[in-house]
Amino acid sequence: MILKTGRLILRPQVLADAPDLFAILSDSEAMRFWNRPAIARLAVVEELIREQQDAMDQGLCRYWTMHSNGRAIGSVDLSLIQEASAELGFMLRSDHWGAGLASEAVGAVIAHALGALGLVRLAAVAQSANRAAVRVLEKNGFALIETRPVTIADGQRKDCAFYLLTR
Ligand SMILES: CC(C)(COP(=O)(O)OP(=O)(O)OC[C@H]1O[C@@H](n2cnc3c(N)ncnc32)[C@H](O)[C@@H]1OP(=O)(O)O)[C@@H](O)C(=O)NCCC(=O)NCCS
Repeated sequence: MILKTGRLILRPQVLADAPDLFAILSDSEAMRFWNRPAIARLAVVEELIREQQDAMDQGLCRYWTMHSNGRAIGSVDLSLIQEASAELGFMLRSDHWGAGLASEAVGAVIAHALGALGLVRLAAVAQSANRAAVRVLEKNGFALIETRPVTIADGQRKDCAFYLLTR
C-alpha cells in the first residue's frame, strides 16, 4: 500500500529502486552504525531486494521506499512480522538528514502498522551511539526497554538500545 505524508510518498519497494538504495547502502557514513559494512556493488543490493521481495510475498516483512520530488531517498521497513508484532527499520540518504524526513516517514509507517495492518507491538534496535536513530524512535513514541552490548557482524561489541512501542 502507498503511504503519503506532507513531504513524502512511501511506495512498496521494487527492484528498480536498487540504484537509489545503493547510493545509501554504499555510503560508509550512513552505514556507520549498521550490523554490516557498506555495500560495494549494485548487484548485492539487487540480490538483497530480491530476497526482500520474496519475504514480502510471504507476508514476513514490508519495505517502503521514500520518494521526494520524484527521487527515491530512503527506506522504512517492518520485518519479522509475526503474532501482531514487527521490527521497524529505516534509513535516509545523507544529503537529506536533519530535516525531519525520517521521523515523518516512520510516523506514517507506525500509523499504518498499528492501524490497517492490525499490529499491536513494534520493536526497534539502534546502536546507542546512533543518536539520530534513537531520537527518531523517541520522537515517535518508542520507549527504551534496555541497553546492552551486542556482538555485531565484524565481531565488535557495541551498546545497543532496544525499544518498544505498543498500541
Ligand atoms: C537515522 C536517520 C534515518 C535519521 O534521519 P533524519 O531524517 O535526519 O532524522 P530526523 O531529522 O527525523 O530526526 C533526527 C533527530 O536526531 C537529532 N540528531 C541528529 N544527530 C544527532 C546527534 N549526533 N546527537 C543528538 N541528536 C541528533 C536531530 O536533531 C533530530 O532531532 P530533533 O528533531 O529533536 O532536532 C539517518 O541519520 C540515517 O539514515 N542514518 C543511517 C541509517 C541508520 O542509522 N538507520 C537507523 C538504523 S536503527
